[in-house]
Amino acid sequence: MKTLIWAHRGASGYAPENTMEAFKLAHQQQADGIELDIHMTKDGHLVVAHDETIDRCSDGSGRIIDKTLKELLSYDFSNHLPNYKNVKIPTLEEVLHFVKGTDLTVDIEIKSGLVNYEGIEEKVTSLVSKMGMKKRVIYSSFNHYSLMLIKQIDKSIPIGLLYTEAMVDPHVYAAHLTAEAVHPFYYTLAVPDTVKKCRENGILVNPWTVNTAEHLGWMYKEGVNAVITNYPDTAFKIRRQM
Ligand code: G3P
Ligand code: CA
Repeated sequence: MKTLIWAHRGASGYAPENTMEAFKLAHQQQADGIELDIHMTKDGHLVVAHDETIDRCSDGSGRIIDKTLKELLSYDFSNHLPNYKNVKIPTLEEVLHFVKGTDLTVDIEIKSGLVNYEGIEEKVTSLVSKMGMKKRVIYSSFNHYSLMLIKQIDKSIPIGLLYTEAMVDPHVYAAHLTAEAVHPFYYTLAVPDTVKKCRENGILVNPWTVNTAEHLGWMYKEGVNAVITNYPDTAFKIRRQM
């Protein structure tokens, strides 16, 4: 089976990360899916951004949880890229609306931990369900407690366990948490047979963030389910050559 290409924060190697511009470009570059990060505003809206503050990616500063959606929309999220101007922070609903008109899948990373977004799991799953997008979404998080809350809401919802350091037998841990997938930092897959053991045990492997031709080729040879990359166009080109 061919490895899928998921655009990390959209086609973030070219366009401002986690914006509609980056998601639309990912679609143009023939990605199979997009990865995005969510936070909650002061007035309870789900917005798409990587950091818990807006300092790095916008012309503003401060925490998302301390601002209303209206306030957030007054900032420019061009990520200081010269060819972009007046880029708005997207709501998750806006992104899902776009995705609905495509065949993209969505990896929604819940960024709860540093800020505890009380009720975010309930909020995100009901939005996805209300929009009829349940079959198109996988949830991921470094906060595995948050993913367990997703499973408590509905055990049929797929989850991917994010991790950074090499883990012993990730397939065993994944099975223990009834997770469908693991989302490792790709270098941890240098431990022999990690992908093979996951595959044999029905656990999907979706590594991040795989950006160079060499490392993409390595992941394709390993036979991972999806690569999460900033450069969907490169990933597409290398996949075609395999
Ligand atoms: O989903 C993989 C990757 O996005 C996890 O790390 O920091 O880019 O959100 P980060
Ligand atoms: Ca992420």
